[in-house]
Amino acid sequence: MNTDVVTREKIIINGKSVLKGKIKIGGAKNSALALICAAVMADGEVVLEKVPEINDVMVMLDIISSLGAKVTWQESETIKINPPEKITSHPPYSMVKKLRASNLLLGPMLARYGSAKVALPGGCNIGTRPMDLHFKGLTGLGAQLRLERGCILAEAGRLKGSRIYLDFPSVGATENLMIAACLAEGQTIIENVAKEPEIVDLANFLNCMGAKVRGAGTDVIKIQGVERLSGCSRYCVIPDRIEAGTFMVAAAATGGDITLENVISTHLEPVSAKLREANVEIIEGEDSIRVIADKPLTPIDIKTMPYPGFPTDLQSQMMGMLSTVAGTSIIIENIFENRFQVADELKRMGANIKVEGRLAVIEGVEALQGTQVKATDLRAGAALVVAALMANGRTEIYHPDYIYRGYHDFEDKLRELGADITSV
Ligand code: EPZ
Repeated sequence: MNTDVVTREKIIINGKSVLKGKIKIGGAKNSALALICAAVMADGEVVLEKVPEINDVMVMLDIISSLGAKVTWQESETIKINPPEKITSHPPYSMVKKLRASNLLLGPMLARYGSAKVALPGGCNIGTRPMDLHFKGLTGLGAQLRLERGCILAEAGRLKGSRIYLDFPSVGATENLMIAACLAEGQTIIENVAKEPEIVDLANFLNCMGAKVRGAGTDVIKIQGVERLSGCSRYCVIPDRIEAGTFMVAAAATGGDITLENVISTHLEPVSAKLREANVEIIEGEDSIRVIADKPLTPIDIKTMPYPGFPTDLQSQMMGMLSTVAGTSIIIENIFENRFQVADELKRMGANIKVEGRLAVIEGVEALQGTQVKATDLRAGAALVVAALMANGRTEIYHPDYIYRGYHDFEDKLRELGADITSV
């Protein structure tokens, strides 16, 4: 079990490749991170299965360990968590600044321990990442929050259930509030919530610990507060739809034929729909999905939306694929205000992309040329891997640590599918 953080200087890919074969998809990063934070609420032992062994998970486990939780890895992808009765310290800034998702500790720590201190996550490349909806909701539940020297300090007696409307269906705000409301007094109704599969997974996990959460996956979630949450003897994280979608796009981009196992194909509906529009054949199995791209791709228009719309986390990868599709493709990014960073790196490889605010116009070129590029965030890094697989010649991708934050065994899986990829 290798649980230390992976770090490399660069990934080297020799294109062109055609991806063929079969791989297994891991547990969902964006579910596992929320479940680990929610586990802090249990007054017993929690066992989580299919936890992806990625850097963000390692950092989150370090953070809850710094609170006094006992964390042990069982056989691979299974962790045992014993949260502390009470906390003696708050997570150190050096840790929380590495991981925006640490803001998901606000709800559980307030609800369980009555106080929380997390760093206001700095902006990252894809946007300012405000937390106004988290604050609005937690204040609505009776917490007092204030900002002090870049940290959020929160205090609360027993939280009180209330009715909260989210101006935007924020995933993180929905998660923080759903978790906190489980131990609040009375009923909480949260309206205009996020409906991502990770929200449903979190609700199921909370209910496994004895919570009373209803309506996850719809626009309104109702929570009846309880006195305490028990442990949970085993809970399995859902498959990672964004990892799966990344491989689907890579297969389409390289004219390949791959089969992904351990997926929930309904979670991939928006991705499958757009790839079919681009002339890719998608065959959905019970818990597998096959992507066959043996015909020339056609240009498509994409706009990212909250689930069940097209996921923003696959927008950069699609931009990579579309850069050599003859014709004009349009991408509108509705979720984050600055998530087209990868366009500049793709242009270094010969792509023809015009970015104007939330709109990107891609004119397909004959081929991309390998060169040195740099990852600016997790999904931009994945998009550069897609582009490098399609490109002629050698591409070096710097700052690959961004990629290791969210993809486990990414290089091994691509190599298994026929990619010529190494890292140093
Ligand atoms: C989660 O981030 C995911 N991260 C992101 O995945 C994903 O892109 C995002 O949801 C959208 O699906 C995790 O789950 C750990 P949001 P989160 O709150 O919760 C605005 C990846 O690559 N907003 O739904 O931070 C915000 O500015 C990562 O795996 C407010 O205005 O996303 C953004 O424009 C990247 N006020 C929009 O909502 C708030 O209080 C979506 O943010 C909160 C958010």
